[in-house]
Amino acid sequence: MVPIDPAASANVTLIDHPLVQHKLTLMRKKEASTSSFRRLLNELAGLMIYEVCRDMPLQDLEIETPLEKTTGKVIDGKKLVFASVLRAGNGILDGVLSVVPGARVGHIGLYRDPTTLQAVEYYFKMPSHMEERDVVVVDPMLATGNSAAAAVTRLKACKPKSIKFLCLLTCPEGINTMFKEHPDVRIYTAAIDRGLNDHGYIMPGLGDAGDRIFGTQ
Ligand code: URA
Repeated sequence: MVPIDPAASANVTLIDHPLVQHKLTLMRKKEASTSSFRRLLNELAGLMIYEVCRDMPLQDLEIETPLEKTTGKVIDGKKLVFASVLRAGNGILDGVLSVVPGARVGHIGLYRDPTTLQAVEYYFKMPSHMEERDVVVVDPMLATGNSAAAAVTRLKACKPKSIKFLCLLTCPEGINTMFKEHPDVRIYTAAIDRGLNDHGYIMPGLGDAGDRIFGTQ
């Protein structure tokens, strides 16, 4: 088993709320159908984004209740970008957007070149004015961390104000890789599993997230 670098571990927020843990366990079950897997992922994403947004800045807003004028606090949802790592990241979008409907959405498509083993970009589309925005990269599985780190490297070329990484599951290998390449990126996860198998799957994990979301197994 690969140990987690203690400095890297300080960069991880484990969301251990009972509702999150309960739904994650149901998703892991091999007999979960595509529709229930998708529904649980939406629900989990909505719960987890609550924790990711905990330190979002608030602004004052003058409003009038039916009784009097007052000052309320609001977030500027449009400043937030959810950047989905294709294709499994798309399974998280509906859930996070149900909680922050004003957020913008970007997509990052990468594949691994079988010869060079380097991540190659095939799609990249972000909203304009990224230098004014905070980005949450969404991808259900942070496994080796190689494509996640490459996605973050590509995003940094747009100079966003901040980048966070939201996944359902990760493992020591993924945490260490992300920390080595991007120590400024905090990881939010519902579980840190044992490690990777020889095929790069997280163990015990939940299998191939993309196949389970889209029913392509
Ligand atoms: N991607 C997946 O979908 N599952 C894993 O376990 C690892 C990477």
